[in-house]
Amino acid sequence: MRRQLTVLGIETSCDETAAAVVSAGDGHVVVRSSIVLSQVQDHAPFGGVVPEIAARAHVEAIDAVIAAAMKSAGVGFDALDGVAATAGPGLVGGVMVGLSAGKAIALARGLPLVAVNHLEGHALSARLAAEADYPFLLLLVSGGHCQLLAVAGVGRCTRLGSTIDDAAGEAFDKIAKALGLPYPGGPALERLAEGGDASRFPLPRALAGREGCDFSFSGLKTAAARLAERVSSDAERRDLAAAVQAAIARQLAERSERAMEAYAERHGAGSRFVVAGGVAANAEVRRVLMAAAARHGFSFTAPPLRYCTDNAAMIALAGAERLALGLIDGLDAAARPRWPLDEAAARLKPTHIPGRKGAKA
Ligand code: KG4
Ligand code: ZN
Repeated sequence: MRRQLTVLGIETSCDETAAAVVSAGDGHVVVRSSIVLSQVQDHAPFGGVVPEIAARAHVEAIDAVIAAAMKSAGVGFDALDGVAATAGPGLVGGVMVGLSAGKAIALARGLPLVAVNHLEGHALSARLAAEADYPFLLLLVSGGHCQLLAVAGVGRCTRLGSTIDDAAGEAFDKIAKALGLPYPGGPALERLAEGGDASRFPLPRALAGREGCDFSFSGLKTAAARLAERVSSDAERRDLAAAVQAAIARQLAERSERAMEAYAERHGAGSRFVVAGGVAANAEVRRVLMAAAARHGFSFTAPPLRYCTDNAAMIALAGAERLALGLIDGLDAAARPRWPLDEAAARLKPTHIPGRKGAKA
């Protein structure tokens, strides 16, 4: 990048209203502010994200969250080079709120608008806090998506594999629910699993040893949910949570190792492996993936925990990188419920993802 570009990022695709100011260029990234307002309390009584409640909560919060991000960054709108807003994939009512706010600021201030793919934000999130030069192999693992991508640069992703049913975060959330844990389930299940014996409950190993880099979590989800109905003691619940966490981590690592083999054939030894998305916040997942990367001679990079789950700093960074390449969008940019990162692969091999966040896959 030629010079530092300062971008306001806006994220409203699920249940976090977020805004951030990021300066990026010349290989340096500075997160000037990152405000994330979680709607967890609003959705908790329903055990999952309710799209209408999410959209309304975004409308109520967006102005204050943007103002807070600008204030905390200590910059005025004059200091901005552009505005980036998530334009999908996600819950479209929420996406429209953040995208409209971004368009309004761009129009009022005469700034370029960048309509960012939420998944590209996750893909670049490791670059917010560490050097993670292109190209790299990416495991994007979140509540609605679970895919392996070869990332050559901004907007240049090739999908190597993806889930054929549930996403890993969805499996965490649904099994957590069956165990009676509060929403969001992933972090709650991780806490319950602490000190548990992962070997007490054997769980199915989907796709183990199979060709390719696809994932499948629905068998594990059903088996674990059935066991959850039978366990009663605290120790049993803890052991089941540990077994689930270990099984998810193991599958993520096994399939990533297949991708590493294919990737190393093209890019050689010493390649970079990056993990991103909400599930990358899980310590056991990080530990197992780091070991897998080491086995294959890959370096391992994961974002700090605050940038694993949804945030606007990753959207601002994707915006800054696109802006530097002249990739800007018109004020007629559409909110997209579905928007695969590798559009060519998605057309050739569409994957059907049921569930509340299916659109994100
Ligand atoms: O990236 P994210 O905030 O939103 C999406 O784009 O989906 O990811 C949310 C997902 C949820 O399924 C949540 O349960 C999971 O990430 N998650 C975790 C942890 N923290 C978040 N799963 C396991 N362990 C965690 N510590
Ligand atoms: Zn996300």
